[in-house]
Amino acid sequence: MILEELFLADFKNYHNCSFSFSQKLNFIYGENGNGKTNILEAISMLCYTRSFLQNTEADCVKYGESAFEITGSFRNRVESKSTVKFLYHKEENVKQVICDNDKVTRSNDFLGRFPLVVLSPYDLKLTMGLQQDRRRNFDLLISQVSRVYLNDLRKYSKIIKQKNSLLKENLLTKRYSYKELRELVGVWNSELLDLAVKLMVRRMDFIEEFKNYIASCFERIVGSRYTPVITYQSEILEESDFSEYNIDSLKVKLEKVLDEKLDAEIKRGISLTGPHRDNYMFYMNKSGELFEMRISASQGEHKTFVVALKLSEFGYISENLKHTNTGEPVLLLDDVFSELDKGRIERISELITDFNQVFVTTTDKDHFGILKNNFNDSKTFYIVNGTAEKC
Ligand SMILES: Nc1ncnc2c1ncn2[C@@H]1O[C@H](COP(=O)(O)OP(=O)(O)OP(=O)(O)O)[C@@H](O)[C@H]1O
Ligand SMILES: [Mg+2]
Repeated sequence: MILEELFLADFKNYHNCSFSFSQKLNFIYGENGNGKTNILEAISMLCYTRSFLQNTEADCVKYGESAFEITGSFRNRVESKSTVKFLYHKEENVKQVICDNDKVTRSNDFLGRFPLVVLSPYDLKLTMGLQQDRRRNFDLLISQVSRVYLNDLRKYSKIIKQKNSLLKENLLTKRYSYKELRELVGVWNSELLDLAVKLMVRRMDFIEEFKNYIASCFERIVGSRYTPVITYQSEILEESDFSEYNIDSLKVKLEKVLDEKLDAEIKRGISLTGPHRDNYMFYMNKSGELFEMRISASQGEHKTFVVALKLSEFGYISENLKHTNTGEPVLLLDDVFSELDKGRIERISELITDFNQVFVTTTDKDHFGILKNNFNDSKTFYIVNGTAEKC
């Protein structure tokens, strides 16, 4: 998939701006605060129907204006074209996504049509931060290649929401007797059991596949001295279960743990077990010893791990969508090269040469000199205060 054109109207610091992009490298440079990341954010809103920075739509309307528009023209592997329009009116708080004149009413049906991988400084929180950031990241990744996973996830989240609101409400109102509440929560537990196990199995299968991508990306960037390791951690799984799990045994285990936790859940007013509480652990294997990234990695190791992770996402999505017309994802690299030495930039640049279409933002024009040698087609945009000069 290629983004050929982009139009922004009253989006952040852009009043009215059109871009015509290269199908390979788009190099976007300019000084701090001029609107480079805003372009990438707009692209993410077309592909994900929401901002990769998790800004609200209201935040994105240009100061003093009442609405914004983002329009993008895409071309897929079989040269078929699509136009996606994202409109938002602040006063009515109405958001509309229109794809080829059809209103997108369920983002579930849309996600994955225009696959996207974004790497930005905010992604450092993947290795440094909270487990929900890692879960959200991989949920979005798996969802872009599996509608089944996305639907299961939505259904499961809905049930958890209902279960939580029952538990919370009862904590405040004491509306039900202990026995009644156990029965009511038990109903939600039996509803979520199958979905929970399906999600967990899908995530474990995902890691089995994904670990090869990240190992090879990592090796191409830093050599084979260290290897990255990702594991799935769940209350109902022991380490040894990892390769031996099967759906029935997981169901039995989860049912047992849900039952054991019920009293604690009633007491605390929140659901405590299930894939919404599971964790992805990131480690670095140095000469056979495992170091947890969050605790012991250096700044450079964090950055390298996250770069390898995101470039692997490109490979993972491409492989999983290779029999569809969609084609490979677009890659957005926001301010990725700052703080990296020339050698590492060169290796990353070589690595992404075979990728599909790439957008790179930076404050340092010299990075273009390093990058362009590897790309046979490129365009440069110089961004000044919400306007773009094509160079
Ligand atoms: N709703 C808005 N209306 C107008 N301007 C906005 C709005 N939201 C953000 N901005 C402006 O956009 C600019 C930030 O743009 P952006 O984050 O794209 O900069 P950048 O070029 O990526 O900078 P850096 O190099 O520091 O990352 C800021 O100056 C900010 O004031
Ligand atoms: Mg920026």
